[in-house]
Amino acid sequence: MTSHPPGQPTDPVAEFAVDVDRHIAGLRADADLQAASRLWVRNIAPHKYSYNFRWMGRPIIQFPQDMVAMQELVWAIRPDLVIETGIAHGGSILYYASLLELAGHGEVLGIDVDIRAHNRSAIEAHPMAHRVRMIQGSSIDPEVITQVQALAQGRKVLLTLDSNHTHEHVLAELRAYAPLVSVGSYCVVMDTIVEDLPASLYPDRPWGPGNSPKTAVRQFLTEHGGFEIDHDIEAKLLITVAPSGWLRRVGCSSPQHNSSQVGTEAHRNTPETKPQGQMP
Ligand SMILES: C[S@@+](CC[C@H](N)C(=O)[O-])C[C@H]1O[C@@H](n2cnc3c(N)ncnc32)[C@H](O)[C@@H]1O
Repeated sequence: MTSHPPGQPTDPVAEFAVDVDRHIAGLRADADLQAASRLWVRNIAPHKYSYNFRWMGRPIIQFPQDMVAMQELVWAIRPDLVIETGIAHGGSILYYASLLELAGHGEVLGIDVDIRAHNRSAIEAHPMAHRVRMIQGSSIDPEVITQVQALAQGRKVLLTLDSNHTHEHVLAELRAYAPLVSVGSYCVVMDTIVEDLPASLYPDRPWGPGNSPKTAVRQFLTEHGGFEIDHDIEAKLLITVAPSGWLRRVGCSSPQHNSSQVGTEAHRNTPETKPQGQMP
């Protein structure tokens, strides 16, 4: 517990927050624990751990730890729109939809190149379906990008990328969709962990170390000054598929948008995010 000078008023809420920050700083400094966590993630990967879970009946291909962090973001940001590339069985879009349902506001837009009929019908029949929209098509198809940009217009957006994990694809998604993210909100790039795991884990995939979401994030951050990596999230999780993938929007690339903030009307999407009809 935080020590408290005698005779001064206590603020238990602030003290708790200070304690948590201190614990997270301790985790950031604990190289042994970080190495043990990386080893755990590396050893669990061949077991397809992320396939073990369901959300409200639907398979969700995620680490539970990451979903707790996403819950914290959704609750703090209260987005109007959560955009996710990569639907698969629908577990994650329905998870975000259920969080928005609890918050009483917002919808999810999922994009997938292949929404299988059995998945589509299960998602459409789900109790959270009223908060879900889906687009079938490649997330980097200019027509899909135009549709997404139009739906995001004027809304507070939280983005997560979880489709094709090659460098080229994720970079194209970042260029197309990250500008839609509201200042103070996040772009969460899943599976940056690919860069830190052995190539032998992905024998039948086009991605691997050197060609991964993390290399795409690195390049994108050199191109777009409006984001920074929130290292505290990965530090507190330790177990995450998104190391260096929790990107907080801290500003706009255009100076006219510098006053935008989550929590105010000004955070909402600005001319920078208007439909362009093509990738920036
Ligand atoms: C890892 S799964 C998504 C998992 C899902 N987000 C969840 O948590 O349950 C990846 C998905 O990306 C989709 N995908 C692959 N290439 C794509 C592309 N070019 N555009 C959109 N989706 C794509 C696949 O069809 C697959 O359903």
